[in-house]
Amino acid sequence: MSVDTVVVDDVEERAPLGRWLWLVGAVILTAGLLFGYDQGVIAGALVGIEKSFSVSTFAIEVITSWVTLGALVGALVAGMLADRIGRRAAVLVAAVMFTIGALIEAGAPGTGVLVVGRLVVGFGVGVASVAAPLYAAEMAPTRVRGRFVSWYQFGITFGIFLAYLVDELLSSGDRWRLMLGVSAVPAVLLVLLILPSSDTPRWFVTKGRRDDAERAMRRIRPHDTEAAMAELDASLGEEVEQAGWSEVFSRRWRKPLMIGVGLAVFQQITGINAIIYYANKIFAAAGFETAAQQTAATTWAIGAVNVLATLIAVAFVDRLGRRPLLLAGLVGMGVSLTAVGVSFLSLNAIPSQPTDSPSAPSAAGTVTLVALVVYIASFAFSLGPVVWTVINEIFPRSIRGRGVSVATAANWGSAWLVSQFFLTLTGAIGEAGTFWLFAAMSAVAFVWIWRVLPETRGRSLEDIERMWTAEAETSAAT
Ligand code: BGC
Repeated sequence: MSVDTVVVDDVEERAPLGRWLWLVGAVILTAGLLFGYDQGVIAGALVGIEKSFSVSTFAIEVITSWVTLGALVGALVAGMLADRIGRRAAVLVAAVMFTIGALIEAGAPGTGVLVVGRLVVGFGVGVASVAAPLYAAEMAPTRVRGRFVSWYQFGITFGIFLAYLVDELLSSGDRWRLMLGVSAVPAVLLVLLILPSSDTPRWFVTKGRRDDAERAMRRIRPHDTEAAMAELDASLGEEVEQAGWSEVFSRRWRKPLMIGVGLAVFQQITGINAIIYYANKIFAAAGFETAAQQTAATTWAIGAVNVLATLIAVAFVDRLGRRPLLLAGLVGMGVSLTAVGVSFLSLNAIPSQPTDSPSAPSAAGTVTLVALVVYIASFAFSLGPVVWTVINEIFPRSIRGRGVSVATAANWGSAWLVSQFFLTLTGAIGEAGTFWLFAAMSAVAFVWIWRVLPETRGRSLEDIERMWTAEAETSAAT
């Protein structure tokens, strides 16, 4: 079959989805929720933590950002774990770690224990951020794979939104313990959901467990099990053994690795988490002066829009394809970031604390608000879900776990860098300069994606793998 052929075959096109796929959908949604809630909740919890313990600025930074470092380590370990013990077992490990971490955080008698809790939670989030989308990408029939992995992003955005709401509700006193402890609830739910699930047919096949693979396939594709197994079997002869790290970095797989890591990094260096973490401060600079005004703007203009616009990707990623969504989203992000930069030229500097004296946002403040809404919506239907989708579908089976691991760790590493240095950057080159830098990165991402990313919509994972092999052979021959 030519590598340019769209390989959604007729059988799959017609077959109804197996009921088990709902369970897979619930797993991926809950894993995303954990990720997002954790990402969003800390801003609100910090106010209470600062009141309970007398903490230094350094300790605050550690409490905030080490969860991301924990996640980076978790993501690196997760690939090996997912290849060895399976995708399902790796999700289970993540959920258990997360539950333990959340309970440690909630009961922490001092900052030392709290930091330990943050690291454990971070590790759990990191493992889940590799294992859960990988699980979904391997379980999903080709024609709905993008939609499945996009549910992960929907979970993330919903988690961030919930965290903003919880922050508003529980913002006083010692209730930060509850804010952090509450995240154990979806973690326990994840344990309950993953326990009755099975591992992916592809992972079973890699382990030489063909009977288990067939049983799993029957659950998710009851109407075309034979056809689906035949396609898996066709790629069986080619390569079954899971390769080690050297294979991940080998010449043969250079292109998928470059694409995975490139997309992961671009998702972060175009500014998303600077906006997610510092939205309150940005709105403060834009003239939303009281804490209540800022929180409302953040919850609805950022949090809710992020959730809703993700549904655009859920609806269109498998119809229009990955490339059009990514490219259109980057245009929206680039233009809106440029507008935020321009409006900041006539705004105040980003303040470190909210004030208590209300005044109406200026015209430039309104432009900033509208531009940020456009930015969030553009990210939410493009780089948010589509990057996770592509990362989880481009690696060949022999290195899939490790490849996804490397790309996801690159994502966490860049997230950490951006959130750590955003305020330093605005101090050095100004707010306008910082947003223009993010806009410039969006332009670079546009050109790069335009040139290197092949469309993967409608291609089975096995077909994508054959495409790389064919490309590597062609380039070796020339
Ligand atoms: C990113 C996160 C980000 C979130 C925002 C995800 O795809 O990986 O870093 O916070 O989207 O919705």
